[in-house]
Amino acid sequence: MRVLVTGGAGYVGGFAARHLVATGHDVTVLDDLCNGHRAALPAELLVEGDIGDRDTVAKLLRERRIEAVMHFAAHAMVRESIEDPRIYYRNNVAKSLALLEAMLEQGVRRIVFSSTCAVYAESPDAPLDEDGPLDPVSPYAFSKLAIERMIRDFAGAYGLEYALLRYFNAAGGSEDGAHGEDHRPETHLIPLALGAAAGRRPPLQVFGADHPTPDGTCIRDYVHVEDLARVHAAVLERPGSCLFNVGTGRGHSVLEVLRAVERVAGRAVPHRIGPRRAGDPARLVASCHRLEKQLGWTPHYADLNAIVASAWAWHQRNPDGYGS
Ligand code: UFG
Repeated sequence: MRVLVTGGAGYVGGFAARHLVATGHDVTVLDDLCNGHRAALPAELLVEGDIGDRDTVAKLLRERRIEAVMHFAAHAMVRESIEDPRIYYRNNVAKSLALLEAMLEQGVRRIVFSSTCAVYAESPDAPLDEDGPLDPVSPYAFSKLAIERMIRDFAGAYGLEYALLRYFNAAGGSEDGAHGEDHRPETHLIPLALGAAAGRRPPLQVFGADHPTPDGTCIRDYVHVEDLARVHAAVLERPGSCLFNVGTGRGHSVLEVLRAVERVAGRAVPHRIGPRRAGDPARLVASCHRLEKQLGWTPHYADLNAIVASAWAWHQRNPDGYGS
């Protein structure tokens, strides 16, 4: 299939784009490189540009005879979204509207959208399923839910078909260490903990040990980024519209992640317990029944140690990430 991948020079988008190429799709990446990395992709895939530039996008869709869009491009920092929400309404919501309009204009009727578990209301015990209550607390989460809604409304009115994928915590790198997570600034637990273990970053601050969880630290569902990429490829050609959580169904606390990093790296992770980070829910774990039942999908990386080991391989081979 001829696919336009927006944000395909970023972390999850990059893994998805490379996976699509490896499985025989014809991929064009559109990325403005404000967060993505040129080195994440073969040069011939990348078109540098803005998804909000409707005319450019329409031209690209027409000239490359695009059949489907995978939409990853977004700003994705919760704290930034609280401090400066207009970035999220402009870059995420308004630009997604421009992208959808360009699709309609060019008759491209299929979209796979990168959404987040941050749209759910917190549920202290039970895994979160797709029909559960929603309560997007941050402007970032709300921007993702607004785009979901826009896509569904467009589906109803204009015959778009969609796959909405709500990811839990994307993590890990490629086994060969060639690709991995490189956010600037980095705010994610696993790369920060690996950097602290390697002595390349300051001691990790654990955001609260007084949450209502067994060890007091937050619980998340870490899903390997290659497993995420496989789900994207699987839903791409599935007829009709769908909404899936993508996680592993297993939760790990921050301290459990630190222990996994210590096992894998063979070094202690210098850390200290700090205050809670605003907006961090205590527990976010996916129910993956729908994905298992409807796609027969299970993660290849079911084990946290294996996820962390792949992130460590990337970190060791590329201590400066994709470079400057
Ligand atoms: N954490 C720390 N110290 C750090 C960084 C993180 O203790 O220095 C903790 C957080 O409190 C959280 C866990 O590690 O409990 C994971 O934090 P990340 O920042 O790695 O990931 P988040 O769960 O905050 O964020 C992820 C995605 C977001 C998405 C969010 C939904 O990156 O895009 O899940 O809550 F919005």
